[in-house]
Amino acid sequence: MCGRDDDCYLTRDEVKYLFICFGVVAVVVLLAVLLAAFVYLRHVTITVEDASLTRFDLLTSPVTGIAYNLSLTLKVRNPNWAMSMKNVEPFVAAYRFDGQQFDRVQVAATGDKHPAGATRVYHLTSSSQGAFVSLGSAGEQEYTKESKTGTFDVEVALTRKVSYTARYTKCKIEAVCPLKLQLVKPDSTTVVFQKVTCKLQKAEKNC
Ligand SMILES: *[C@@H]1O[C@H](CO)[C@@H](O)[C@H](O)[C@H]1NC(C)=O
Repeated sequence: MCGRDDDCYLTRDEVKYLFICFGVVAVVVLLAVLLAAFVYLRHVTITVEDASLTRFDLLTSPVTGIAYNLSLTLKVRNPNWAMSMKNVEPFVAAYRFDGQQFDRVQVAATGDKHPAGATRVYHLTSSSQGAFVSLGSAGEQEYTKESKTGTFDVEVALTRKVSYTARYTKCKIEAVCPLKLQLVKPDSTTVVFQKVTCKLQKAEKNC
């Protein structure tokens, strides 16, 4: 408390001390912000917002193949508010039936940037007149079974390798999206697709 007038002013030493205190607090806050921004990595979220299958035929001669038309809408969110992602390898989607891959498409090229905090939407349209698939008899039976119901279990496996702003380690992102796709006529509008959240594989160290 100020009793006499000269006690109401801070001495030179007190001022110095206050400056040091503010300095220390500022550095701690800055470090916390940098830590939150660049050290603590949050994982992407991936969903399949929409999908439509208009053809899904199993061909058995000369080899087993799948003739299909599939379109997908993928939504990928980068929840890091300070780190953008950049593909260091192409972002690829592989399509599988009964655990066997029957096609592979590129979602985005190497060098493609995904800004911090942003959500990117990718529309994929793919088709084949007969993409080779090694199904085996169990897989063929599964196909026959599913074709009776008109709904096929197709898995979309996503792989991507990215670098993040200010981070040295490049990270592999792998996710699997299990889809139940009802076969529809190309002009049909009746099918409602239930959004699917893709399951991320466990990340590597520092990723
Ligand atoms: C499948 O795709 C091909 C080529 O993109 C197109 O010509 C064909 O009409 C499509 N068929 C169906 C059933 O959607």
